[in-house]
Amino acid sequence: MTPSLIRFCPWLDRRGGLSPLRTFTFIGLFVPGLDIGWRLYAGLLGANPLESAIHLSGLWAIRFLFISLTLTPLTQLSATPRFIEVRRMVGVAACAYAFGHLGLYAAQQSFDLARVVSEIVHRIYLAIGFAALLGLGALTATSTDAMVKRLGARRWRQLHKLAYLIGLIATIHFFLQAKLEVMEPTIMFGLLAWLMGYRLLRLFFVVRGWGLAGAAAGLALLAGLATALGEALYFNLKTGVAMPRVLSVNLSTVAGLRPGPLVALIALSLVIVALALRLALNPARLPSRARPASRG
Ligand code: HEM
Repeated sequence: MTPSLIRFCPWLDRRGGLSPLRTFTFIGLFVPGLDIGWRLYAGLLGANPLESAIHLSGLWAIRFLFISLTLTPLTQLSATPRFIEVRRMVGVAACAYAFGHLGLYAAQQSFDLARVVSEIVHRIYLAIGFAALLGLGALTATSTDAMVKRLGARRWRQLHKLAYLIGLIATIHFFLQAKLEVMEPTIMFGLLAWLMGYRLLRLFFVVRGWGLAGAAAGLALLAGLATALGEALYFNLKTGVAMPRVLSVNLSTVAGLRPGPLVALIALSLVIVALALRLALNPARLPSRARPASRG
């Protein structure tokens, strides 16, 4: 098979062989979209099906964006470069779901494009969503091998760091439309803090091996704490409830875990899973103090 043909088959690796990871990811990315389409068609989305579909497509757009960001620490901590191979696919899927989300919103407005534009201009949370969509579109348009070559690997990598900013803008859009039910966007703010912290750690400090894994675990606890403080501040400003009272809820599991502990748990689990994968897939590449770090 020619290299140009291989590029059109996302389930193949660069040498043209079938890649189980790529195949599994490729199929998995369609599942939420097919589910939303089917439920819309079969009338299973409640009294306001278009609104539900807008919410579901937005949720999957932001989840895939976050999964694509998470693949960087997962690859580095597990020393398994093949995970990074699917990052582009997941990022493109995030963009596709975001455009689907906009399409559904346009359908809800009866495809009255003047109204769609006017709403985006006048409602701050929609304008913020639009900015995130533009960013995702720009990253997707420059995600091809040809664009990597044209921009040069260094400039391309710098440009694609914008994915973190886009993640932040998309989370603000999510947060603003959520009104009082801010659990999931708050978790996303916390995870983004962890992902950005991890990135800065790699950029400014030469940490490697077990040191990097330990620092990533420490960052997970810090991100959890910052999330709990952010949540307490938000409710204090919004409802006047004293911050210590909101913070104390984090110590109880009666009503389920709050965003702070959840962020710490998710990020810590990621570090543990990455190390377990490293042990299972690359026992020869267990973290060691002597090995130099590769920046990414
Ligand atoms: C022009 C661009 C966009 C428009 C017009 C738009 C519009 C909307 C609308 C109308 C809602 C529902 C608000 C409500 O019911 O009160 C929504 C929710 C949401 N949007 Fe967007 N959006 C845009 C871009 C994005 C992007 C780029 C992302 C993510 C990458 C995103 C993620 C979300 C999420 C996560 C929700 C909340 C879903 C939920 O609460 O279940 N949106 N958006």
